[in-house]
Amino acid sequence: MAFTIAIDGPAAAGKGTIGRALAAHFGFAHLDTGLLYRATGRRMLTGLDPVEAAQSLRAEDLDADDLRTPDVSQAASRVAAIPEVRQALLDFQRAFARRAGGAVLDGRDIGTVICPEAEVKLYVTAADAERARRRHVELTGKGHDVTLEEVAQDLRDRDARDSARATAPLKPAEDAVLLDTSEMTIEEATARAIAIVTAAQG
Ligand code: DC
Repeated sequence: MAFTIAIDGPAAAGKGTIGRALAAHFGFAHLDTGLLYRATGRRMLTGLDPVEAAQSLRAEDLDADDLRTPDVSQAASRVAAIPEVRQALLDFQRAFARRAGGAVLDGRDIGTVICPEAEVKLYVTAADAERARRRHVELTGKGHDVTLEEVAQDLRDRDARDSARATAPLKPAEDAVLLDTSEMTIEEATARAIAIVTAAQG
């Protein structure tokens, strides 16, 4: 039976970590939809037209190891503002969301546009400084040479662009449960998310 958990929120709020943990706990498949936009943005940076890049995206494009660099993050946010790019990626996400056996999708418009009928919608946020700190630790841990201020600026730019765009802007669905992880450990945030989903399963 299909059961969809939609997770939205700004960059580096903990969506991916919570999404992976929920998928593991409930035995659901997980899709980090940001990867679709990152892979499209990365292909645009190599000279491809962004709409063509989205239309011809292949599974192996999602495995590229440089999808988290600041350049690709910004490119992802830019291509994500193009309606034809979003349209090209829509069917794949909808089919994934309604697959048998359950699915967790995280992104910006999952509860509002991709899967408005999702059984559970979470809107995950955290304070700006905390999100920047976490992403900085993650990137430097992987060997990327970035300062905290560069990371903070990247998040500010992307959140502003992702929230202000005309098509599928970042915003909580009306029926989303808000989860502010600023003061939570990963374990606490995950436990809270599991409790919300368990309650919704009835
Ligand atoms: O979740 P992320 O930081 O990996 O996403 C990268 C960019 O992709 C983000 O700045 C906005 C865009 N995006 C989007 O517009 N819609 C989604 N469902 C997921 C990501």
